[in-house]
Amino acid sequence: MTCISGKISPDVITYLQGRRSCSLSQMGDTAPSDDEIKAMIEIASRVPDHGRLFPWYFVVFKGEARAQAGDILKEAYLEEEPEASAAKLALEAERFLRAPLVIMVVSRLRPTKKTIWEQILSSGAACYNLCLAANAMGYGTNWLSEWMSYNDTFKQKIGLAPGEHIAGMIYIGNAMEQPEERPRPAQNEIVTYWTPDAALQRGTTYDPEKPVPYVKGFTFPDEVV
Ligand SMILES: Cc1cc2nc3c(=O)[nH]c(=O)nc-3n(C[C@H](O)[C@H](O)[C@H](O)COP(=O)(O)O)c2cc1C
Repeated sequence: MTCISGKISPDVITYLQGRRSCSLSQMGDTAPSDDEIKAMIEIASRVPDHGRLFPWYFVVFKGEARAQAGDILKEAYLEEEPEASAAKLALEAERFLRAPLVIMVVSRLRPTKKTIWEQILSSGAACYNLCLAANAMGYGTNWLSEWMSYNDTFKQKIGLAPGEHIAGMIYIGNAMEQPEERPRPAQNEIVTYWTPDAALQRGTTYDPEKPVPYVKGFTFPDEVV
C-alpha cells in the first residue's frame, strides 16, 4: 500500500464537490462484488482514530441475510407496537431489501472517558469513508439510522452487545438516476475567520431555544453529555 498525504487529485475534488446520497427509491439491485466490499471496508477502516482503539466494526447484510435481518426487525417492531397492521409489519420486514447491500457500522466504545467523544466521531468517519469508497466504485449510498438503530430489542437480536451503538446503516447499490442538488449553507453563515472580537457564525438555522426533533430511544452515552 502506497500511503498518500498531500498528493494532488482533481478527480477527488470534483467528486466531493458533487457528492450526494442516493435515495433508496433510486437504488437498483446491483450489489458490489465481494472484492469490492472488502476494498470499501478496508477504506472505511482507514479513518482517523485517536489511540488506535479501532472503536468500530462492520456487519454486512447481503443476499438472504437481508430478509433474515428483516424478520428480526419485524419482531422488534411487533414488541413495540403489538397492534401493528400486517401491512406495516410487512414493510418493516422489507427494510433491508431496499438495497442489494447494507453494511452496519457499529460503534463499540472502550471505557476511557478521555476519548469517548473521539471514538464516536471516528465511527462517523468510518461511515462516511465507506460511503465515499462505495461511491467511487460506482455505487449510490445512503447513510440511515431509522428507528432500528435505537431499538434495544433489534440491536440485541442482531447480535450487538450492551453499550454498542449503531453508527450507521449504509445502504449501497447502483444509482439508477443522478440526484438533484439540495441547498447547503452559505459559507458566510457557518465560517468565521477568527479575530479576538469576532462573533462565531453558527448557521442561520441554529436556534439554541428550539429543540431538535426527539428520536425515540436515542440516548447519548453518559460520558459524552
Ligand atoms: C448519522 C446519520 C443518520 C441518518 N439517518 C437518516 C435517517 O434515518 N433517515 C433519513 O432520511 N436520513 C438520514 N440521514 C441523512 C442522509 O444520510 C442524507 O445525508 C440526507 O438524505 C441528505 O442527503 P445528502 O447526503 O445528499 O446531503 C442520516 C445522516 C446521518 C449522518
